[in-house]
Amino acid sequence: MKKNVVVIEGDGIGPEVIKQAIKVLNSIGEKFCHNFMIKKMIAGSKAIEKFGNPMPKKTIDSCLKSDAVLFGSIGNSKYDHYPIGMRPEDGLLKLRKKMGLYCNIRPIIPYSNIEKSPIKKERLKKVNFLIYRELTGGIYFGEKGRSKNGKEAYDYCVYSKKEIERIGKMAFQAALSRKKKISLVDKANVLETSRLWREVIKKMSSNYPDVYLEFLYIDNAAMQIILNPKKFDVILTDNMFGDILSDEASVITSSLGLLPSASIGKNQSLFEPVHGSYPQAEGKNIANPLGCILSASMMLEYFGMYKEKILLEKAVKSSIEEKICTSDIIDSSFVTTEEVGNYIEKYIKDH
Ligand code: IPM
Ligand code: MN
Repeated sequence: MKKNVVVIEGDGIGPEVIKQAIKVLNSIGEKFCHNFMIKKMIAGSKAIEKFGNPMPKKTIDSCLKSDAVLFGSIGNSKYDHYPIGMRPEDGLLKLRKKMGLYCNIRPIIPYSNIEKSPIKKERLKKVNFLIYRELTGGIYFGEKGRSKNGKEAYDYCVYSKKEIERIGKMAFQAALSRKKKISLVDKANVLETSRLWREVIKKMSSNYPDVYLEFLYIDNAAMQIILNPKKFDVILTDNMFGDILSDEASVITSSLGLLPSASIGKNQSLFEPVHGSYPQAEGKNIANPLGCILSASMMLEYFGMYKEKILLEKAVKSSIEEKICTSDIIDSSFVTTEEVGNYIEKYIKDH
């Protein structure tokens, strides 16, 4: 198969982890006779410096013409004082909106031999859930601004029935192929948008009689994720709550550096690690590339390359078993970003 993949390295550790993911994709390509045509485009800080715009039109157009986008990370505190729409993060939000990436999927699956999670081992057994985070609506995209005197600020949270239904459908379908349970996480005791979410999802659930639907308030869900993570199968939630819960849930797997994500769009989809730009580690060759490599693996699944995905995930598992891991998952490890990538590349060649 031939696939056109737009790659955006972005800021901070983005270029380092992307480099490993491309290496691994190429070895999959060689082994299974696929041609991944990589086209690098810029966004984030580099795009601000070059074009005064964190997400140039050229980059968006290339993404819209691609088969999929692989994204590193974005964010640089140097631009914190920039106006609305001009910060690196705004570039990512713009791309999400333009590509219509409404459904962000973040799997939480702990690897059994990672000791570093602060959560008791017995609580981690059999944990395996997916966060379905709405990605193009809610408080992230509502009107925002300041009053004239600058002493008041607002961010509107708006959701439409249609926006809730389209991600709801994806979540129900995922639950059907899993443990058949959806936990809708919201703040329906306070927020009107949450009450709309409950109404719409409850109504949809009559089409999926085999799926058990529960409702949880975000404050309670945040607690349950740590106390009893086994209870979850598919967590369905809005943009802001999903952002917060996914960082929290990463503690289960021991490191945010391990978490991949897929953002499913109207036509194309985008794949990116959940970790941010982690500027403290930039250029040091210490960042964990597995979140990005596993995002590439979600991309393989999206392309229907199931054998390829299985082999890549075996390679990742093996790297963890052999302790070829960065220090975020094994204390005092001196294994570099590059070495993790090399191990996985070689594993794919040899198996
Ligand atoms: C994420 C990130 C982004 C978000 C930032 C960088 C805008 O935290 O993908 O989780 O809040 O969505
Ligand atoms: Mn986040």
